[in-house]
Amino acid sequence: MNDKQLVALHAATYVKSGMLVGLGTGSTANYFIEELARLQCDEGLKIITVASSTVSAQKAQSLGLSIVALENISSIDLYVDGADEITPEMTLLKGRGSDLVKEKLLAKAATQFIVVADESKLVNHIGQNFVIPIEVIPFAWQLTKKSLENAGAQGDLRPNAAKDGFWVTSHGSYVLDMKFDASISAQNLNDLISNTPGVVEHGIFYSLTDIVLIAANGVISERMA
Ligand code: 5RP
Repeated sequence: MNDKQLVALHAATYVKSGMLVGLGTGSTANYFIEELARLQCDEGLKIITVASSTVSAQKAQSLGLSIVALENISSIDLYVDGADEITPEMTLLKGRGSDLVKEKLLAKAATQFIVVADESKLVNHIGQNFVIPIEVIPFAWQLTKKSLENAGAQGDLRPNAAKDGFWVTSHGSYVLDMKFDASISAQNLNDLISNTPGVVEHGIFYSLTDIVLIAANGVISERMA
């Protein structure tokens, strides 16, 4: 069993019958979804799920999990998802796959938000290994990019897979992949991007995480807010 699977299975021990559970997106979250389906089938676990992306929704559905639409919920019991970067203060960078809008809604709506990852995701500061994905309203992208550049950022629109146009998210947004000065704190970066006109949402998850579960060489460690 690899570390991503190990930590996802451990996160599933937090799930209790009757819960409304948010499903993350990515390879680690996929292991969690598979484990929920197994617990439902083998141990009679009774849960309802809500997905952070169409990919997760399809996976959950194909495994027989009950799904409710995001527009029909106002809170959830538990949300389990992976991350691209995790700082010592438990700030996250997410959304490499550009599903960050639903992911952040679920993280905020959850009574408990558990992040699952292997140790490759641990960083000293946000933006250490990846650029920061920023979803923008398509007609605003140039103005928004200019505002971010004026604040010292560098980057560009994310190209589509065929490299003949721009990436469009499931909500119809473009994505600016931007790099900022490493000396800016996560809180200031979060405030700066959130307050930039034209921004729909961005990949910094600041002050949202309750528990981080990390697996390293078969050993799980837990950090709590
Ligand atoms: C998607 C995410 C993922 O959770 C993140 O990319 C981690 O993916 P993986 O578990 O495959 O390493 O934020 O938007």
